[in-house]
Amino acid sequence: MIRLVRGFHDILPDETPKWAFILETARRTLELFGYREIVPPIMERTELFQRGIGELTDIVEKEMYTFEDRGGDSLSLRPEATAGILRSVAEHSLLHRDSVLKLYCVGPMFRRERPSKGRFRQFFQIDAEVLGDVSPLADAETIAAAHAIMSNLGATGLMMEINSVGCNVCRGEYRGLLRAFFEKYLDELCPDCQRRYHGNPLRILDCKVERCSEIARSAPVITDHLDRPCLEHFQAVQEALTLLGIPYRIVPQMVRGLDYYTRTAFEIVHEELGRSKAVGGGGRYDYLLKELGGPDASGIGFAIGLERLAMGLPDEDPRFTRSTDVYVAALGESARNEGFRIVNTIRSAGISAETRYSGSSLKAQMKVADKLGARFVVMIGDDELSRQEVTVRNMSTKEQVRIGMDRVVSFLQSLS
Ligand code: HAM
Repeated sequence: MIRLVRGFHDILPDETPKWAFILETARRTLELFGYREIVPPIMERTELFQRGIGELTDIVEKEMYTFEDRGGDSLSLRPEATAGILRSVAEHSLLHRDSVLKLYCVGPMFRRERPSKGRFRQFFQIDAEVLGDVSPLADAETIAAAHAIMSNLGATGLMMEINSVGCNVCRGEYRGLLRAFFEKYLDELCPDCQRRYHGNPLRILDCKVERCSEIARSAPVITDHLDRPCLEHFQAVQEALTLLGIPYRIVPQMVRGLDYYTRTAFEIVHEELGRSKAVGGGGRYDYLLKELGGPDASGIGFAIGLERLAMGLPDEDPRFTRSTDVYVAALGESARNEGFRIVNTIRSAGISAETRYSGSSLKAQMKVADKLGARFVVMIGDDELSRQEVTVRNMSTKEQVRIGMDRVVSFLQSLS
């Protein structure tokens, strides 16, 4: 047997109703907030992610599925959606038509991480981006949209963790402070962090190696070193969140794993998965669009991981339980054609109906009807056939009635 690629997963038919419910709820919520869907491809030029996400991030350094195509171009499966969406906005000049753009996309992302509970190599994200709005209210609204998706799904045990990672001005100074701090520990840091020390010491704060994160815990935090405009922005975001009644907690150590963030950064954590595996994350990026060749416009967005989200919801829920309305049990050769015709007529009327063509006994067929969760069974045997009738059984009350074949649809409609 040829098996799945490690870290990839199937979404099986028993799970798809829950996924459909999540996607429908997320889409409806984002559209309420004014977002419109965009569908970028799952593969882009490698350079887009190197430039967008940052050369020294774990994602770009270690986790991308990168290959050379037959024409010699270096391509990568997208590890996230933001860079691709912004590439599309720049390429199609979408911000020329609207001064503020709100876009969302849904689809698979690929990162070659070590697989574990809630961590896959292919995973789905719902990703939302607002472009062209510098106001801290846009930050709060974005966090509110992420929160609304979760609460409309009925998720509980959630916390919005927020931080400010400053801008190019205050971060420059902060980098100097970090270097001074980590200098004493340089020999103890992992080889990656020794490189990061020179290239971008902020990345050390995000290192998963135990000794590095232990050292990083006592490093200076950026929130103590924000410049005035960044500090005011951060305070305004907090006030706006309070105004909206969104629960949040400030986590000054949070830097996020992608380099493009400026000012607001946030994560949605769930009690079951813990802090190391956020359900969602996002933040503001004021230089990224220009960096990718677009206009000088700021942006803010987030992505929620659908696998992690699904893990926080129950498997059984009437909101995403699917069942068949009617099972048609035809008994005997001659009834089979009539059953075949009736099941189709019922479906044409918008009522879901199933049957089996294997010609098994009534008992076996009732078992199938039960398994499908059918509310009614329409039975046709030789006797019914000779009278041009059917027997309709209500599966919960066990009541049975005989009706004319030509009345099946109107009878079923009267019951639902
Ligand atoms: P991220 O924090 O890298 O942000 O990913 C967002 C979410 O995707 C995570 O919180 C998690 O739920 C899910 N996720 C990430 N990696 C995995 C994995 N290996 N397995 C399962 N789920 C995973 C971004 O991707 C940014 N592009 C978000 C953003 C949008 N920032 C601004 N706009």
